[in-house]
Amino acid sequence: MEPDRFSRTAILTACIRAYHAAHDDPKVFDDFMAHHLVTREECQSLGLRLSDLSQPAAAMPRTSRTATLPWWIKAIAGSIIARARYFEESLEQAIRRGIEQYVILGAGMDTFAFRRPELLRRLLVFEIDHPATQTFKRRRLAEVGLKRPDTLHFIPLDFATESLAEALKRSAYDHKAFTFFSWPGVIAYLRRRDVMSTFRAIADIARPGSNIVFDYLEEPFFDPDNPHRSVNIVHENLRLAGEPMITGFDPVGLASELAHLGFRIREDMSADDVERVFLRGTAGYHAGLYTHFARAEVEGSPS
Ligand SMILES: C[S@@+](CC[C@H](N)C(=O)[O-])C[C@H]1O[C@@H](n2cnc3c(N)ncnc32)[C@H](O)[C@@H]1O
Repeated sequence: MEPDRFSRTAILTACIRAYHAAHDDPKVFDDFMAHHLVTREECQSLGLRLSDLSQPAAAMPRTSRTATLPWWIKAIAGSIIARARYFEESLEQAIRRGIEQYVILGAGMDTFAFRRPELLRRLLVFEIDHPATQTFKRRRLAEVGLKRPDTLHFIPLDFATESLAEALKRSAYDHKAFTFFSWPGVIAYLRRRDVMSTFRAIADIARPGSNIVFDYLEEPFFDPDNPHRSVNIVHENLRLAGEPMITGFDPVGLASELAHLGFRIREDMSADDVERVFLRGTAGYHAGLYTHFARAEVEGSPS
């Protein structure tokens, strides 16, 4: 990302969640707070007509709801709402197992801390994000009158230039507490070495038994000769937005690299799995090609 420019894709993903929350039934994920953090104009400038939000879901025929989305946004929207669902369900399971901290990496316009006050009573939450995006978000929260809960901590960090472990050590983060890390929609935008150094930092700082959920794209998504129109159109639009996707992984190779760093992959859902589990029967949403959702555990016996 450019140093002084907040993330347009963070706005885009929030617009998609806001759109889905307002229009679709059944809902894969109900981010009923997302619309507070984005404006109609911002969504429109990215190609998503949030003015459609003024039209109640019931007034739209079920099949036409995703039909109003531009083609390239439709190609990513299914993965974005399914990811939010999978990540928060995994978090809820981890809370039941006793985790005490939640670290959101590249949080963007995430609304968890404002949507789930009942869970915040039991959790310390850390939102890590690029300084320009986090400044934008904090300004937007102030503008719309959303006050930071005491248990939410903002930590600005550029994964390309700073160490996550150092940043967390300077914060209220407790390395002895079981922690749930999530990294939604970020890995593909980073250089490979920044992805791996961040995983290394987590392995260093997280108590064994802690978990991380993340999504990634398989390498063919980055093949310049990939024949799929949806892949090429997504690349092109993200380049135009100034945030190209650059890094993909081979699932087997990634599992082995992570094992080397001290993680065990507990689950790795392919695009077919995501489609089957979360998106069947929805109003036209599909998993993006080459998408993976994964959950890994920091290994070792708890001390
Ligand atoms: C596609 S948005 C996803 C936002 C949010 N996680 C979501 O799912 O809606 C990408 C996020 O990655 C963050 N990001 C991209 N490059 C980064 C970097 N080098 N350091 C820190 N954050 C970065 C952006 O600021 C943005 O919040």
